[in-house]
Amino acid sequence: MALKDAAVSVKDVAALAGVSVGTVSNVLNRPERVSPETRDRVSAAISELGFVRNESARHLRAGSSRTVGLVVLDVANPFFTDVARGVEDTASAAGLAVILCNTDEKTAKENSYLDLLEEQRVRGILITPADEISDRLTDLRRRGTPVVLLDRKATGRDQCSVSVDDRKGGDLAVTHLLDSRHRRIAFVGGPTSIAQVADRLRGAKVAIKRAGLPDDALTVQIMEGLNVASGRLAIQQLLALPKRKIPTAVFCANDLLALGALQELSHQGVRVPYDMAIVGYDDIDFASAAMVPLSSVRQPRHQIGRTAAELLIEEADDTGGHKHRQVVFEPELIVRESSTRTRRA
Ligand code: RIB
Repeated sequence: MALKDAAVSVKDVAALAGVSVGTVSNVLNRPERVSPETRDRVSAAISELGFVRNESARHLRAGSSRTVGLVVLDVANPFFTDVARGVEDTASAAGLAVILCNTDEKTAKENSYLDLLEEQRVRGILITPADEISDRLTDLRRRGTPVVLLDRKATGRDQCSVSVDDRKGGDLAVTHLLDSRHRRIAFVGGPTSIAQVADRLRGAKVAIKRAGLPDDALTVQIMEGLNVASGRLAIQQLLALPKRKIPTAVFCANDLLALGALQELSHQGVRVPYDMAIVGYDDIDFASAAMVPLSSVRQPRHQIGRTAAELLIEEADDTGGHKHRQVVFEPELIVRESSTRTRRA
């Protein structure tokens, strides 16, 4: 096979230019170290042979690359799409590409992706952990890969994180329902092993306690997933309760659950908000566009992504000035038709 067709190597370029492989590497990576006439000879050989540098091999040797990993719980959830957009805007402005990994809330899948990203020597990793911070993630950091927690507050000050005060978010949602005179309220969430869900539930319970109501004023419905199908199933289960136990309002741990709840209530002829009020969480774009515009606790999704990416790049390029920061944003309750009893005009 003619040399031109084979993968041209640095050795081939060095042979044609009559220099060492190290000189070729200097021309590619540290041209200021090479005399102009040698640079020209090597450049002529590169053009003649059609040599293309192998970035990933170079980065593997150098221990860094122009990619960052973004590991999310559910790529189908618009919350993470919006966060990913913030990450990508910041990463691309810094000349970095984003490798998106979807864990489906499974630790085993998360670990597989962490192995892959470490092999790729990514510049750093942004992650919403599927559960607690795993040993795998701790090891990865210890071996030198910067990690920023997304949508999860770091427990210590030795790690960067960007999150929202989810306890306050849960409190805002249920206080709003209590202020609307609801006294039988349900919390519909996913696995409480996901800290965000557990914190929203904690906030809901704080609001119930502050109102002087007994704990059982809040029915807790923990579903397998945080998606539309789980929202529909949760409503089927709540409507099957004895009549005096059926809630008049439901706070869902995210908007996908709330959209599923709206769908099922409509399917069963239950009027929202008159027979049952609904509040979601995230305030994704579909919330305001829902058949009954959805009240929701807004998370600043794009800003979460952007801020996390900025922290990661600062840590990865650290020349000694980086200080780990745990950024916590405030949630904001957006009230729409799904939880206000005022009749439609
Ligand atoms: O992934 C489940 C939920 O956690 C998302 O909807 C978002 O609220 C995140 O915080």
